[in-house]
Amino acid sequence: MEIIHRRQRMSSISRKLRREQDKTIGLVPTMGALHEGHLSLIREARQMCDVVIVSIFVNPAQFGKNEDFDNYPRDLTSDTSRLTDYSVDYIFAPPVEEIYPDGFSTYIYVENLSDLLEGAARPGHFRGVATVVSILFNTIRPDFAFFGQKDGQQIAVIKRMVKDLAFETEIVTMATVREETGLAMSSRNAYLNPREKQAASVIYQALREAKLAYRDGVRDADRLASIVTDKINSEPLARLEYVGVTDAETLTPLNRLNDETVLVSVAVRFGQTRLIDNATLNKK
Ligand code: PAF
Repeated sequence: MEIIHRRQRMSSISRKLRREQDKTIGLVPTMGALHEGHLSLIREARQMCDVVIVSIFVNPAQFGKNEDFDNYPRDLTSDTSRLTDYSVDYIFAPPVEEIYPDGFSTYIYVENLSDLLEGAARPGHFRGVATVVSILFNTIRPDFAFFGQKDGQQIAVIKRMVKDLAFETEIVTMATVREETGLAMSSRNAYLNPREKQAASVIYQALREAKLAYRDGVRDADRLASIVTDKINSEPLARLEYVGVTDAETLTPLNRLNDETVLVSVAVRFGQTRLIDNATLNKK
């Protein structure tokens, strides 16, 4: 496993792998602080691709002014040691100025999808995500890129970008990995104190209730949203920010659920920590 810090070297290695050795490349983009969720993406990449590259880059462009960019956990040594058992071929860990050199001024903005739900709560977030992912795709030109379903809106934004800008990378989505309590694995769980962490399992319970109601025939989006809202509000430590019941691909809010795949998504605060999660209904 080699750690690469320079963009030019990363692109020259992947060019060689593709052109001279005819290898398929899988990219797992991360911001580090690796957990089981990331490892499940890496395992799938290992199964599907000849070469696995994990990028580790805490992307300043996707954090708002009052968000946790400065405090976001960064520990390349511990991330690297977590990866030793996973036959990762390369870690791409560029410094900020490699991705955003002086004078950088080109951003990717996926209209509409970027402004709803998380995008409304975190203006500019998806512009930062789409921009860095497109730089990673252009640098590495992966055949496949792996993302976790926990960030359901991120997947919708990236898939739209890939289609619109004709990237030749296939997006592979993997199920959310959860702790025993149902809490979705996230690097931000590290900010929760033990009481908050326990309380945060209410998110999974609420999404599960929505799934069960859907299975029992509930097709009214407001009704499903209230089921989620009531459950989350029953937990005194939880402060619900939003519940969305939307088309999973276009993120258009729904009234009545028909045969589309539906994303029920939430953002909830526990103390200073903001968590997101989602459930997919009627997955095709
Ligand atoms: O999901 C993440 O960790 C980040 O948003 C990503 C895709 C690595 C872009 O910085």
